[in-house]
Formats: sequence, structure tokens, C-alpha cells
Amino acid sequence: MMKGIVLAGGTGSRLYPLTKITNKHLLPIHDKPMIYYPIQTLVDAGITDLMVVTGGRNSGDFLRLLANGKEFGLKHINYTYQEGEGGIADALALAEHFAEGSRICVILGDNIIEGSIAQAVRDFQQQERGAKILLKEVPDAERFGVAEIDGDRIRGIEEKPVNPKSKYAVTGIYMYDETVFDKTRTLTPSARGELEITDVNNAYIREGTMTFNYLEGWWTDAGTFDSLLRAANLVYETSQRRPIESAVAAEAKDGGVKERGVKRA
Ligand code: DAU
Repeated sequence: MMKGIVLAGGTGSRLYPLTKITNKHLLPIHDKPMIYYPIQTLVDAGITDLMVVTGGRNSGDFLRLLANGKEFGLKHINYTYQEGEGGIADALALAEHFAEGSRICVILGDNIIEGSIAQAVRDFQQQERGAKILLKEVPDAERFGVAEIDGDRIRGIEEKPVNPKSKYAVTGIYMYDETVFDKTRTLTPSARGELEITDVNNAYIREGTMTFNYLEGWWTDAGTFDSLLRAANLVYETSQRRPIESAVAAEAKDGGVKERGVKRA
């Protein structure tokens, strides 16, 4: 069974002063704290053995907020603490003892998606070894890790390239086999002083064991003022749309006889 790791360390300096007195992942996205969304994404994909990696001065608040995960139907959540902000791969390395040789699905605490990763998780479980990432076409690829694609092969990933080689951002959802921690051990800090998840992914690409899926539905991070607002708007708009869509779907299924449960505005 795959285990899930939610990375919610770092200082959220790009959101200062919102992050002066609380952790970025506790900020609201419409009607829920940011961290709820990535946790729900994993739970919806059937991944229920979770570890949250936190850090900073407000890490205790995660425990108070999430407790043992009852709101998500969980019995228990594991927690660990990242000292400083050594990067995404540094935060991931802290989960080695939790993973205990299992495959893992890692999600960044500020990544919010509309759809489901259940199919990608199933695909990865069929994969003999290696890793899988999820790509999304975006208009501002230079803000992200960017994948160079050749048919169904991925050639490499560049972290925040000035001239992106494609429009495909590498989303913050990563699936890894048990060799990932051997890879994090070989990393050295990048120009921005962090252990980069892109270097981990490129190690799998060099090995020839990286696969990818395209992510369906919208995807956003929420780590800047613009993307924080965008995330809230997307969640809100989707919540307004969903009941109508499901009412229409129910009607179609019932041959149109069932009364529509939701009134249109
Ligand atoms: O959102 C997807 C992007 O996330 C990818 O396309 C990039 O390849 C990847 O490097 C990352 O880019 P960012 O520069 O946007 O990552 P950021 O520093 O904002 O960190 C994202 C999350 O990772 C953050 O919400 C919590 C976690 N993190 C980050 C750092 C630096 C940690 O847990 N510890 C850390 O030290």
C-alpha cells in the first residue's frame, strides 16, 4: 500500500506579512485551510497512511487543526518537523523512516487541484519501478519546474527556466519507489540554497524510470499573492458549479424524470 507525504515546511516568505504570525499552509483558501486540500487529494486517491512535514514557529498549530485526521475519515496522522527551509527534497528526506521501504506519493502543501489523482496512482502501482510525475499545461511555465517532452518520453526537467522548453509545468505531486531516499542523499544545494525536487526527478529520468501523466482539471499553487487569490477563486467557482453538474448528471442517468435538486441562480 502506498503511503502519502504532505510537505508543509518552509517559511512562506513570498506571502509576508500574511505569514508573519502563521504558517502559509494554514491560510484560508475559500472555506478551508490550505493544507486540507492536498490531504483530501491523497485521501480521495485511497492513500490514508499519511505524514505531514511541517516547520517554522507555528508547527504545533497543525496538530491542533488536523489532530488525528477525523475530518478526513482517518484514524491517525504522522507528523515530523523540518528545521530551517532546506528545500522540498530536504523536507522529503525527513520522511524516510515513515516510508519504511514503501512506495510514496508526495504532495506539496500549497498545491490544489480540481480533479483526482486516483488513476495516476493506480498506473504507478502497475509500474515496475521508478517514479511518476503529473504535468499541466500552463501559460507561465517559467514559474515552475518545466518538463521537456519527446512523445511519451520525458527528456529532462529545468527548474524555473528563463526560456522554458515547453508549456508543461511539473505539478507538486510526485510518486516514487523506495530508491528515492538514496537519491535525496546524493543532492547538493542549488543556486537558491535548497535541495531541489527537480534534481531528484532528473535522477529518475537519467535512470530511464520516470513516467508522467497529464493532470486533468485545473491546478494551482498558492504560494504567492496572485496564486493564493486564484486558488480561492477556483475553489469557490468549482463549489458553485458542482451541485448543478451533479444534478444534471443525475437527471441524465434517470432519463430526465428526476426533479432537479438544485435551483439555478
Ligand atoms: O508547485 C509546483 C512547483 O513547486 C514545481 O513546479 C517546482 O518544480 C518545485 O520546485 C516547487 O516550486 P516552488 O519554488 O514554487 O516551491 P516552494 O518553495 O514555494 O515550496 C512549495 C511547497 O513545498 C511549500 O508550500 C512547502 C514545501 N516546502 C518547501 C520548501 C522550500 C517544504 O516543505 N520545505 C521547504 O524547505
